[in-house]
Amino acid sequence: MRRKLVIGNWKMNGSLAGNSVLLRGIVDGHAAGKADLAVCVPAPYLAQCQAELSGTPVAWGAQDVSAYAAGAYTGEMAASMLQEFGCRYVIVGHSERRAYHHESNELVAQKAHAALNAGLTPVVCVGETLEEREAGRTNVVVCAQLQAVLDVLENPALEKIVLAYEPVWAIGTGKTATPALAQEVHAALRKQVAVRSADAAAKVQILYGGSMKPDNAKDLMAQLDIDGGLIGGASLKAQDFLGIAKAAD
Ligand code: G3P
Repeated sequence: MRRKLVIGNWKMNGSLAGNSVLLRGIVDGHAAGKADLAVCVPAPYLAQCQAELSGTPVAWGAQDVSAYAAGAYTGEMAASMLQEFGCRYVIVGHSERRAYHHESNELVAQKAHAALNAGLTPVVCVGETLEEREAGRTNVVVCAQLQAVLDVLENPALEKIVLAYEPVWAIGTGKTATPALAQEVHAALRKQVAVRSADAAAKVQILYGGSMKPDNAKDLMAQLDIDGGLIGGASLKAQDFLGIAKAAD
């Protein structure tokens, strides 16, 4: 039985003062239930998360990581650095990075590999654009994104990743994939992992992301292969974020 996992992706939002209020609200309102909670914050706020979340049940992480271990890569952050700030998770391959920073499937796979090498859990995002969905290419696109990761990870590492299906057309648009439609893609992803390892397929948590809110979270997370959510907008208010976590119970 996989536990549910609800991760907030703050994207490029936050301030020291605002974060404190939000983190306090999440910690105070957190009730032990079926969902584990984490926040993935902008890198400058990782020290704040370490200070304010250590010893609480809420984990934290970053939103990107370098594929390289160290060296002359201006602006990059190594996985070992994230690890020093107590990160458990790091998002890799978010569609905003694929689109605005031209990250390829292969680079995303290298980032997942680098994260695992440093003991972090990569949250590997996959998802199709509206054009790709309308052209009937959803499975081809997400399976190619996943395959690049499968190609670089050995089985023991594979069991440790988290996957997130985020249809690009549902991100920040208020349009959520229907539970059935999301389930179909999640099942396809799990099946693809199973081709490599039945064990890994049974263990890997696959989160849904894309306009998940407290009022649609229950139906989505009730699906067999939906193991939680990767939450953007609704993770910026403690009440909404906790409402989604509660929907897992
Ligand atoms: O990574 C989370 C994300 O892209 C979904 O964003 O605002 O639609 O919940 P949002």
